[in-house]
Amino acid sequence: MTISVVILAAGEGKRMRSRLPKVLHDIGGQPLLAHAIATARQLSDARIHVVYGHGGDQVIARLNGLLPPDTARWVKQEQQHGTGHAVAQALPGIDESSTVLVLYGDAPLISAETLRRLVAASADGALALMTVELDNPAGYGRIVRDKAHAVTRIVEEKDANDSQRAIREINTGFLAVRAGQLRQWVERLDNSNAQREFYLTDVIAMAVRDGVTIRTVSPASPFEVLGVNDKAQLALLERYYQKMRAEDLLKNGVTLRDPARFDLRGELTHGTDVTIDVNVIIEGTARLGSRVTIGPNVLLINVEIGDDVEILANCVIEDAVIGAGCRIGPFARVRPQTRLADNVHVGNFVEIKKSTVAAGSKINHLSYIGDSTVGARVNIGAGTITCNYDGANKYETIIGDDVFVGSDSQLVAPVRIGDGATIGAGSTITRDAPAGELTLSRAPQQTHPGWKKPVKKRRVEE
Ligand code: UD1
Ligand code: CA
Repeated sequence: MTISVVILAAGEGKRMRSRLPKVLHDIGGQPLLAHAIATARQLSDARIHVVYGHGGDQVIARLNGLLPPDTARWVKQEQQHGTGHAVAQALPGIDESSTVLVLYGDAPLISAETLRRLVAASADGALALMTVELDNPAGYGRIVRDKAHAVTRIVEEKDANDSQRAIREINTGFLAVRAGQLRQWVERLDNSNAQREFYLTDVIAMAVRDGVTIRTVSPASPFEVLGVNDKAQLALLERYYQKMRAEDLLKNGVTLRDPARFDLRGELTHGTDVTIDVNVIIEGTARLGSRVTIGPNVLLINVEIGDDVEILANCVIEDAVIGAGCRIGPFARVRPQTRLADNVHVGNFVEIKKSTVAAGSKINHLSYIGDSTVGARVNIGAGTITCNYDGANKYETIIGDDVFVGSDSQLVAPVRIGDGATIGAGSTITRDAPAGELTLSRAPQQTHPGWKKPVKKRRVEE
């Protein structure tokens, strides 16, 4: 049986009070709609139809890459006349015999497993509807049942009377039904309701009239079906999402010092015995080896980190490859295109950009290394700066193996320091320094015997 997933994502989302279309707001670092698309793609034999409208160009520009052109398409809903009208836009491109599964672009936490159960519940020609009981059903469509407990219709809150509003079983919006049947009902929808919209929910009463079984399915967890209408719900869902991600990591053996103070906004893969302290944020993709320790308040963006690495507190590391046994921080910034080989130490207040550092080198204090190649077993003294920029162009610094750079030195690029060279502290190196030699540039030290400190002049009153 083929599944035609129709993702409704055309609405404006006024309550977000934002110029960004609602479905482009992020949960876990990914737009809401990206989550729905990713979940739909987990269903086998699914064709995906995304109904978009509000902020259309922006939505397509951001998400087009997620839709495989052979099995998915964008369907434009020029004006947003309601959920029934939105589904109607997609139906002409959908095969009669397939099962339509309706998802919402603003409900990102639904699991593929729950959707499979919903689809299965419609397999015999029934209309399968996902519902859930909420303590506070405000804002949702209510599920109306008869004395025999059979569903008779859905009533939207704005159209409901007091006794209907008291119903706690709500419509999540997710439903599955045969396309051929849905088409007949959708064609007959009208907008004679409080919102002057074509409600998809009105097909339930039509199905009942046609003698179609309505079967309700509930999600594994009520959080799965929550939608985002405003920033408070966005924040709430972010916390649920992060809780789920943290639970997955804990299950896989990662130590999270506090799962409530950990944010994964991308993908994390890891070896064994990884420990992550509080307030760590991971964005993009992070690959951590085994026995990696990450201290508190660390931001990692697209990193590959080898075994036995220790990242101390308050580091920011982006687009970098860190070899095994490295120790970084506290307070270090490793910027894009940096590769540290094994056992490199980068200490406090060190910034490294677009540089490679070979094994066993140490840059422990207050240094800037940019556009540089640093050899193995090098010791860069405190306060060393590679002057890589002349105000117009960037230049490279090449430092050989076993070099010792004394503290407070400036290496003015382009410049090369030969293997085994020593640079005297406080030097400004503007020409290549030969291998194995001591090179320094330093104004001669002077002492002025008998010099007196100035004394404060007495102010003469006039
Ligand atoms: C809808 C349901 C309600 C349910 C609730 C669950 C209807 C009439 N009501 O109400 O029963 O409890 O969802 O969250 O279906 N959309 C379009 N085009 C449109 C209108 C909406 O694509 O013309 C999309 C929106 O982008 C959104 C989804 O459909 O992703 C739901 O629309 P929304 O306006 O949020 O519906 P609710 O009033 O929340
Ligand atoms: Ca909604």
